Amino acid sequence: MSPVRGVTLGQGGEEHAAADAAIGEHVGRRFEGKVAVVTGAGSGIGRGVALRLAREGAAVAALDVDVGSAEATAATATADGGTAVAYGCDVTSEPSVAETVAAVVGRFGPPAVVCNVAGIGGFFHTAEMPLERWQRILAVNLTGPFLVCRATLPHLLEHGGAIVNVASNTALMGQAYSAAYCASKGGLLLFSKALAAEYLGRGVRVNVVAPGGTDTPLLGTFGLPEGADPRQLTKIMTPMGFSTPAEIAASIAFLASDESSYTTGAVLSVDGGLTI
Ligand SMILES: NC(=O)c1ccc[n+]([C@@H]2O[C@H](COP(=O)([O-])OP(=O)(O)OC[C@H]3O[C@@H](n4cnc5c(N)ncnc54)[C@H](O)[C@@H]3O)[C@@H](O)[C@H]2O)c1
Repeated sequence: MSPVRGVTLGQGGEEHAAADAAIGEHVGRRFEGKVAVVTGAGSGIGRGVALRLAREGAAVAALDVDVGSAEATAATATADGGTAVAYGCDVTSEPSVAETVAAVVGRFGPPAVVCNVAGIGGFFHTAEMPLERWQRILAVNLTGPFLVCRATLPHLLEHGGAIVNVASNTALMGQAYSAAYCASKGGLLLFSKALAAEYLGRGVRVNVVAPGGTDTPLLGTFGLPEGADPRQLTKIMTPMGFSTPAEIAASIAFLASDESSYTTGAVLSVDGGLTI
């Protein structure tokens, strides 16, 4: 396998098929009998997480603001022999999150696993960034995980559970043209550590996965703004290329599983060495 993988905007490719096949050999049944809530499950990393958890025996609630894409993920998981149901849910909306979590609990029972994967981004000259874009990025990437954690925590506290929040290498290093994205992901990282501290010893673990460049449709939304200097972004490239969604999902599944029973408040970088 070549160490450099091409970017296919989530369409796969030879190197990615090889990476995913290698991961396939390590799939177990760690989530048998557990209910898992996955946001952003219609695409990219969230889709990868939903499929991985379902393959490992979880009953997966696949949440996405784009319900059609979540339905496609649920159909794939079901065809693969798993259990998954799609829910249209906007993680920025308090009533949408509350109604969805109530529907999931009504259908499957209380969740034991919550993976906050939904996210958006974009490159902007900060001096020209519209307030509305700043607020939207913060709403989806930071307020969304708060709302989902707040709605699910009573259930997790009752029965024990694990939360995995998906940040980014940009939670750990500055990235040009990405002030809102960095702020949202840095905020998510310390939000997660705060939760881990608050619920330490109460049966709820909270961890963060910080992916680097992952080959998903999201990358297509990061067009450089006019006049931007592309050299500013060379530091976010690694000789290992872009990961596949399944490679990130593997680390998320580890932190969501009882295999990481002594791990809370941790940040697992899965970024091909970007933040070495
Ligand atoms: N792709 C990368 O290079 C990369 C790198 C680091 C971190 N991440 C993070 O990983 C996560 C997943 O990204 P991805 O690359 O799979 O992106 P993606 O665009 O492929 O998938 C994101 C999903 O989130 C959903 N979503 C967006 N807004 C939502 C909302 N308000 N409510 C519910 N769902 C919503 C979208 O409909 C989409 O299905 C994001 O948090 C992203 O910031 C991605």
